Amino acid sequence: MVTVTINGAAYDIDADPDTPLLWALRDTLGMTGTKYGCGIGACGACTVHVDGQATRSCLAPLASVAGKSITTIEGLGAEGLHAAQQAWMDENVPQCGYCQAGQIMSAASLLARNNRPTDDDIDIAMAGNLCRCGTYPRIRKAIHNAASKLSDAHE
Ligand code: FES
Ligand code: FES
Repeated sequence: MVTVTINGAAYDIDADPDTPLLWALRDTLGMTGTKYGCGIGACGACTVHVDGQATRSCLAPLASVAGKSITTIEGLGAEGLHAAQQAWMDENVPQCGYCQAGQIMSAASLLARNNRPTDDDIDIAMAGNLCRCGTYPRIRKAIHNAASKLSDAHE
């Protein structure tokens, strides 16, 4: 049994501590917003936040996240859409949509530490999130859009 805190709630998960967090999210808890892409840390579709850091949940054993605060796409906008989610809609970012939860989680993590990211900052932070549909230009635009919303909110 492993106890994890996800989106502010504690869950006792009856699984081997080596089980990847992604499996527990999707198969045990039914939180299917976090996607399975590659399972080997190569695509970013499974990105969640662990103590605020963008983390590949397919590579994070439950034991490694016990006692930490996990946020999934379901929790990101729980108190109203996150600026990134709103910007993603404003810029019509998704095509098939499969990669986009992971993209938004990586973008939100970037924006939490840098609300005026340059194109280079964005490219570095988002490099591990692949999009087979090639939505990268719209992703970059949406991150700038979200950044301006966030910096306006702080002025
Ligand atoms: S499913 Fe985790 S990085 Fe691809
Ligand atoms: S929108 Fe299709 S993989 Fe990114």
